[in-house]
Amino acid sequence: MDPRNGYRLVVVANRLPVHYDQSSDERWLPSPGGLVSALTRVLQSHEGLWLGWPGVTHPHEKPTSYEGIDLQSVDISQDEYERFYLGFSNATLWPLYHDAIRSPNFHRHWWEAYVTVNERFARAAARHAGPGATVWVHDYQLQLVPQMLRELRPDLRIGFFLHIPFPSIELFMQLPWRRRILAGLLGADLVGFQEPHAAANFSRVARRLLGVAGTDARLHQMGREVRVGAYPISIDIAQISRLVHDPAVRARSQEIRAELGSPEVVLLGVDRLDYTKGIQQRITALAELYRDGVLQAGRDVIVQIAVPSRESDPHYERERRHLEQSVSEVNGENGQVGRPVVHYLHQNMPFEELVALYLAADVMLVTPFRDGMNLVAKEYVACRADLTGRLVLSEFAGAATELRAAFLVNPHDLDGLKESITQALTTDEKSARRRMARLRRQVASRDVFQWADGFLTDLAGRSQDLDEVRDGVDDEIGPHGGPVHLVEGADA
Ligand code: F6P
Repeated sequence: MDPRNGYRLVVVANRLPVHYDQSSDERWLPSPGGLVSALTRVLQSHEGLWLGWPGVTHPHEKPTSYEGIDLQSVDISQDEYERFYLGFSNATLWPLYHDAIRSPNFHRHWWEAYVTVNERFARAAARHAGPGATVWVHDYQLQLVPQMLRELRPDLRIGFFLHIPFPSIELFMQLPWRRRILAGLLGADLVGFQEPHAAANFSRVARRLLGVAGTDARLHQMGREVRVGAYPISIDIAQISRLVHDPAVRARSQEIRAELGSPEVVLLGVDRLDYTKGIQQRITALAELYRDGVLQAGRDVIVQIAVPSRESDPHYERERRHLEQSVSEVNGENGQVGRPVVHYLHQNMPFEELVALYLAADVMLVTPFRDGMNLVAKEYVACRADLTGRLVLSEFAGAATELRAAFLVNPHDLDGLKESITQALTTDEKSARRRMARLRRQVASRDVFQWADGFLTDLAGRSQDLDEVRDGVDDEIGPHGGPVHLVEGADA
C-alpha cells in the first residue's frame, strides 16, 4: 500500500499498541492484551494504520511501526494530559460511566481540552484514511471523533466501540455536554457496546435528548442510518491454550503454590488498581472470613495482584493507600512470620506469569462494582481446561451477562460477598466442574478475533442483508459475533 493514497483501514484509539519504557533498551515495548493482538492482526491483513497517543507527553522519538503495521502518533501536551486525560476522560467520564461510584467532576476547562484533543485525533484520521476507507474509533476518550471525522470526510465508513459501560439515562443526564457527546457518537455508522442494555441505554437517551427517530438497533440521524449493537469483547483463546500447555508455565504454577507454602486453597484477585474494581471490599470480606473461621491461616492463601494505574489521580492514590492498609491489617491479625495470608503485589505482570497464577488458583475473585466486560474472568475460565477452579463474579461486570454459571455476587453486599466466596469454596466437585464446563463453553463461543471480525463485518454493511432476512427483528441489538470451534476438554 502506498500511504500517500491513504490507508484502507485506520484504528483510532487513545493509546498506541506500544508504550514507552525508559528502563528498557528497546524503549517502545508492546502493550500486552488480546485487544492489541486482535486489532494488530486485522490491521496486518488490511495493511492498515493505528493512530493513537504514545502515552508520554514529550516523546524524544516516536514509534512508527509495530509487528508490520504502521503507527501514527497523536501528541498531547502536559496541560492536555491533565485536562483531557486525567480530567475529563478519567475524572468526569470514567466515574460517571461506572455508576458514579466516585462523584464525577464537571469542569468547563476540562471539556474544552476534550474537544481540542478529539479534534486533533479526527483531523489525523481524516489525513491518513484513503478514499472510502474504514475508520474504527475506540473508547470513551474519543466520543466526539465520529461526528468530527464525518464532517471532514463524509466518504468514510466510521465505527465506534465503547469498551466501558454506557450509563443509565438518569446518570448520563448529569453530563453538562450530554448532547454534544451523543451527537459525536451518532457520527458513526455503527456504534458498538459491550452489553445489550448499554446499547439500549444509548439509543433511548439519543431518542429522548436529541429527538432522533428509530429503534434500539437503528437510529436515523440527519438522513443517515446509525446501527447500534452489543459486541461483547473476548480474549485470545489460542494464545492462552498455548501457554496453558507450555511446560515452563505449568512448572511455574506449581512453583507458585510451593512458594505460597503449599496451601490447600489459593484464592486469587487480578485487577488494575482502580476504585471500580471493588478490591478493598473483597479484602474486607476475606478478612471477615478469616475472623469467622471459614478461611484458616496456613490452609488458605490469598494472592492479590493490583496493577498500577493512573497513579497521579488522587482517587487512585487514596484507593491504593486504603487497600494497602487493609492488606496489612489482615496480615497483622492472621499472618505468621514468613507466612502472610494475603500476598499483595502492586506491579505489572508478564502474561506468562499471570497464566501460571490462573493455573495455581483454586478460586478466582472478580468482584468489581462496575466493569465494561472484565477479561480476567474470561482468561481464568480459558485456563481451566481440566474443569477445576471456581469463579466468583460480580453481577456488575459485563462478563456476568455471559458467564451465568459463575458464583454471581453483588459486591456492594458484604454478607452476600462472603456467602458467595464460601459457596465457591465448599460446593462439591461435581457441580463445580459442571459450572466450569458451562463457563468454558460460553467463553469458547467467541474469541477476540471473531469479535473484531464481527464488528467490522457489520460495519461493512453485510449485517443489513442479514437483517433483511430476519425481517421483523429490527430491535435485535446483540450480542453479535460468530462461534469459536473449540472442543470442550480437547485442550485439557
Ligand atoms: O477499560 C478502559 C481502558 O481505557 C482500557 O482500554 C485500558 O487498558 C484501561 O482502561 C487503562 O487505561 P489507561 O491506562 O489508558 O488510562
